[in-house]
Amino acid sequence: MKRASSAVLIPEADIQRRVSEMGAQISQDYAGGSLTVVGVLKGSFIFIADLIRSIDASILVDVEFMTASSYGDATVSSGELHIEQDLSAPISGKDVLLVEDIVDSGLTLGAVRDLLKSRNPRSLRIAALLEKESSRRQPVVLDYVGFHIPDLFVVGYGLDFAQHYRNLKEVRILDSE
Ligand code: IMP
Ligand code: MG
Repeated sequence: MKRASSAVLIPEADIQRRVSEMGAQISQDYAGGSLTVVGVLKGSFIFIADLIRSIDASILVDVEFMTASSYGDATVSSGELHIEQDLSAPISGKDVLLVEDIVDSGLTLGAVRDLLKSRNPRSLRIAALLEKESSRRQPVVLDYVGFHIPDLFVVGYGLDFAQHYRNLKEVRILDSE
């Protein structure tokens, strides 16, 4: 049986401050332009909701979602992507920002990135709220990272364990007992 422990890893105020900073940086980088934000569901939906509201109103933003997961194990070096739900519009010629909740092995993100690249966007950058450095297997260049965290299983702010705890306002460490 697992439950969310009382150990808060990242308090709500810290998340809000950092996401605002990321939005400000993105606003600078895309000033005068437009942006197609592509979220990988389900974990990224709360992060995206806050992030896009931190992006300057002068930037034309549209949002797309993809439901995807990657299958792979320690003996397989690249993940096979399973897309449950694809984007609703083409991204060819667009400035795309791919948004993930957390990067662990990098397999999911690497596979989604390659798929999006093959659709010829004008540019493609990646934002992740959390990055676990220690267990990365596939190198994926992240353009915007919220927090680097130790190799722990975390929940909250959109991140789940068995579909639960997404509603927590802060990021907590999942305890086993
Ligand atoms: P990766 O393909 O190993 O990088 O795994 C990334 C995906 O696994 C994320 O999009 C999450 O859905 C999930 N994941 C990895 N680590 C955690 C965690 O600590 N808490 C919740 N979900 C996680
Ligand atoms: Mg995910």
